[in-house]
Amino acid sequence: MKLAGLEAGGGCAAKYPAARLQEVLSGFVPATSEELLVGLSPADDAAVYRLDDERALVFTIDFFPPMLDDPAAFGAIAAANALNDVFAMGGRPLLALSVAAFPADLHVELVRAILVGAAAKVAEAGALLAGGHTIRDDEPKYGLAVVGTVHPDAVWRKSTARPGDALFLTKPLGTGLVLTGVRKGLLGEPELAAAVESMTRLNAEAADAIRPFEPGAVTDVTGFGLFGHTHELAERSGVRVVLEGSSFPALPGALAVAEQGMRTAGDPRNREFVAGALSLNGLPDTAALLGFDPQTSGGLLIALPAEKAAVVEASFAAAGQFLARLGRVEAGAGVVVYS
Ligand code: CO
Ligand code: CO
Repeated sequence: MKLAGLEAGGGCAAKYPAARLQEVLSGFVPATSEELLVGLSPADDAAVYRLDDERALVFTIDFFPPMLDDPAAFGAIAAANALNDVFAMGGRPLLALSVAAFPADLHVELVRAILVGAAAKVAEAGALLAGGHTIRDDEPKYGLAVVGTVHPDAVWRKSTARPGDALFLTKPLGTGLVLTGVRKGLLGEPELAAAVESMTRLNAEAADAIRPFEPGAVTDVTGFGLFGHTHELAERSGVRVVLEGSSFPALPGALAVAEQGMRTAGDPRNREFVAGALSLNGLPDTAALLGFDPQTSGGLLIALPAEKAAVVEASFAAAGQFLARLGRVEAGAGVVVYS
């Protein structure tokens, strides 16, 4: 029995449409408390709750259906994706619980492989997988609820980018395009392996590398794609983001799939989400497809003062860590892309 055959739009492409989510939450009065440093107004990658002057809890949950057949890789990707929301807040994970749904007849070896893959990733993140909850469901789903800690004065929000910031991304784009290309036989094992390597990579090292530079705003690029998450950052920060389309980094094979005009499952919803806020200025279709592509377990999107950019780039290069400069932050509103 193959995992991904059970569900075509897996990974972060399975996210509820952002526009629909906003509509639902518009009638919802969010909880407030002096200790709730980050809740729903505005929402961020995780909730943050102050315990005392030195410590705040970071709390997040993420789960989705499989996007590939290898159960251990699926478990590791789902775990990395969930843990990455703690790193996106500047925190470090402590404890995780599985959130799981499996068909009653799904082979026990497959289910075990998913859990083993996830547990190894949680351990790599320096945290403990301490339990969970599993229900029966015709469509498999897996993910984690994660608790971490962060210093209350060093929380990385997505609502605090400022004019004069430079914008960086810590992983290449195109996970949805590559998986679509593999499913349709356009790409093979090497491209799949590169995408899996990227999706299973924790954003822990990137977060540690950027921490000394005190970034102004941080989020991670997942289901809403580069354009959707950039739009969130711009809107919540009250700024305009200018992106250079020629600088978009792509996973091996992603552009070949885009050149075939193949769109991923989440692409139409992501276009709808940013409609009215995004100017593409004749950006070539292939670059636009990268920007709309839903990312599973994507990289950190980082805004920090442009005068620090050169030294940040040099320090990432010296450590052999991936970093792409995507553009800049200006006064204004919306997301503007130039080719
Ligand atoms: Co996130
Ligand atoms: Co999330």
